[in-house]
Amino acid sequence: MLLLLWSFFSVIILSLADGASFASRIEDDSDPEAVPRSLQTVEVHSVSVHCTVASRFAHTVMTSSASNKANSSQEILFEVELPKTAFITNFSMEMDGQVFIGKVDGKQKAGQQYDRAVSKGQTAGLVKASGRKMEKFSVSVNVAANSNVTFVLTYEELLQRKFGQYEILTRINPKQLVQNFQIVADIYEPQGIAFVDAHGTFLSNELLPLVEKTVTDNKAHVLFSPTLDQQRACPGCEASLIHGDFIIKYDVKRAAGLGDIQVVNGYFVHFFSPPDLPRVPKNVVFVIDRSGSMSGTKIQQTREAMLAILQDLHHEDHFGLIQFDNNVLQWKDSLTKATTENVKEAMMYVMTIRHKGSTNINEAVLRAVDMLRKDRHVLTETRVDMIILLTDGMPNSGESSLPRIQQNVLRAIRGNMSLFCLGFGNNVDYAFLDVMAKQNQGLARRIYEASDASLQLQGFFEEVGTPLLSEVDLRYPDNAVESLTTHHFSHLFNGSEVVVAGRLSHNHLDDFLVEVQADGREKDFRAQGRARGAQWDVIYPDQDYVFGNFSERLWAYLTLRQLLATSELGSPEEKSEATARALEMSLKYSFVTPLTSMVVTKPETEEDPGGRLVANKLTEGRKARGREGASLWG
Ligand SMILES: *[C@@H]1O[C@H](CO)[C@@H](O)[C@H](O)[C@H]1NC(C)=O
Ligand SMILES: *[C@@H]1O[C@H](CO)[C@@H](O)[C@H](O)[C@H]1NC(C)=O
Ligand SMILES: *[C@@H]1O[C@H](CO)[C@@H](O)[C@H](O)[C@H]1NC(C)=O
Ligand SMILES: *[C@@H]1O[C@H](CO)[C@@H](O)[C@H](O)[C@H]1NC(C)=O
Ligand SMILES: *[C@@H]1O[C@H](CO)[C@@H](O)[C@H](O)[C@H]1NC(C)=O
Ligand SMILES: *[C@@H]1O[C@H](CO)[C@@H](O)[C@H](O)[C@H]1NC(C)=O
Repeated sequence: MLLLLWSFFSVIILSLADGASFASRIEDDSDPEAVPRSLQTVEVHSVSVHCTVASRFAHTVMTSSASNKANSSQEILFEVELPKTAFITNFSMEMDGQVFIGKVDGKQKAGQQYDRAVSKGQTAGLVKASGRKMEKFSVSVNVAANSNVTFVLTYEELLQRKFGQYEILTRINPKQLVQNFQIVADIYEPQGIAFVDAHGTFLSNELLPLVEKTVTDNKAHVLFSPTLDQQRACPGCEASLIHGDFIIKYDVKRAAGLGDIQVVNGYFVHFFSPPDLPRVPKNVVFVIDRSGSMSGTKIQQTREAMLAILQDLHHEDHFGLIQFDNNVLQWKDSLTKATTENVKEAMMYVMTIRHKGSTNINEAVLRAVDMLRKDRHVLTETRVDMIILLTDGMPNSGESSLPRIQQNVLRAIRGNMSLFCLGFGNNVDYAFLDVMAKQNQGLARRIYEASDASLQLQGFFEEVGTPLLSEVDLRYPDNAVESLTTHHFSHLFNGSEVVVAGRLSHNHLDDFLVEVQADGREKDFRAQGRARGAQWDVIYPDQDYVFGNFSERLWAYLTLRQLLATSELGSPEEKSEATARALEMSLKYSFVTPLTSMVVTKPETEEDPGGRLVANKLTEGRKARGREGASLWG
């Protein structure tokens, strides 16, 4: 009996990555090709992923139904991967006509229930990191003989524009032929859709027509719904060819000037990314860790990336190179213009970088700040000053107290330049880098130790390498809007987008003044105009619109993201206030965040006394700190 349970144990994984990306996979302990369809005791008869996007706000529902065809009850596990930037907002399961719905609760309360569930040996849903940009959510339930179970998971997120497009990626690997298999995306963008591209890595050119795509001016519909036969890896065989990524990419038609403002149901959202702006030259200092731990592949990949990045510099950019271990070495004392000759010379220098010694982050970053400050007066026209720090370890030479390094760097930079931090591999304290970057108008990224690390580094540089505007300030009248999200941004980079949302003071207000000011290249950017409510029911007349209050949820999502960020920065008072507000919003809008959990009361069966399932989300900080103990020298 036990043997049977284990050998036919099935896993259903629907996973999501990058932006609004989905993946779905059904794993079976046994090789599916070796198990004829008739003998499979867990049959998945439907898998559907339905994503609805309203003005970049993506609402995704994943549904999966399976039958336990065995004579006895068995566990069926539902496992989903979703983007780290998304919040789970609902989960339910249906068995024997009964529906069990998840409820978002404060962590304290839910945590105890989770611990109890775990100590009783029950599986509990836990959202934890999985791979680069995904988190895994899993729930398992005991299903009676010859019964069905249906899982429904919903999550929401704001798609972020990167490299000039929004991306919805679905990783699918059902490992079983599925009677009803469907990926559907409906995209509503009142600004107009510039292009939509949909393809699957597993689809050969002859199968590509299976992807249906309908695009009208402000609406797109993508459908991928292969029949059982079309899913077969070869005629007559039971293996599925569907495994890999299904990717939808799109961009909107962007308006010049103010950008696009939408007013719906008492909330507004403002998207700003004007086309055709000239690039602003940059002063960039690369600060590269060459401590002992970088030895081998990492230092080689860093050299490779630096060679490509240097070649991508624009002639009017200025740059500096600093390598550090316990010593800090500069290529040149001052910034150098990125002429062809200088870049060549710098490339020769990069090729000589070798690993050795320990890690003095403090001294290296302060040196970079000095370099940028010293040359400031010489370069009069508008420029963007940035430091890009690449490190793979903990500071263990010179100043090594993390808070003191943060304090020193903050004091030296004084808001005058941006610090971007790249944490290479698992031995960095990512939370430390993340806070330090955010305190200094920048952002942090993880670089994963893998064969594509060099491409990850280049990709990051490509993302921030073309500043178009700095000190972007978006203004709205105090008497018309309240509860604004962040409306000042240090930079606008090419291919990205600035988003601000807020609540209107009066529900029926739909016409107010909006101003944008920013430092641009030759002249400063100024735009002024009136926001006018777009009539969604006029633009989409035949649409019984799925989540009419998307503007409110979009605002709630952005506010919550920013509160969660503040709860890790700021003073102790700011932190606790942000935490309290974030908890309140998570509960009100039913978002599973690091502060909340989702509790599902698990149905009772004869063998399973029932209990509660709790979905928990671990925080980035906790994971990072967990790694500290494992950190090596360098
Ligand atoms: C169900 O039970 C019957 C009788 O106990 C047995 O003969 C049969 O093989 C079982 N079927 C499966 C799929 O386990
Ligand atoms: C959650 O899902 C259940 C079942 O699908 C549904 O009845 C309920 O209204 C949903 N809750 C929310 C807040 O959308
Ligand atoms: C389980 O689902 C299958 C397929 O939808 C259906 O044919 C069957 O009647 C269902 N069984 C029960 C017990 O509901
Ligand atoms: C911004 O990126 C687009 C492609 O995404 C490119 O066509 C354009 O030239 C870039 N603008 C600048 C100023 O580099
Ligand atoms: C640096 O920032 C401070 C405060 O933000 C500002 O007063 C000062 O003018 C800036 N200095 C330079 C050189 O930009
Ligand atoms: C949207 O919000 C308004 C005001 O808060 C509320 O009256 C309405 O019922 C909501 N509509 C939906 C579909 O939730």
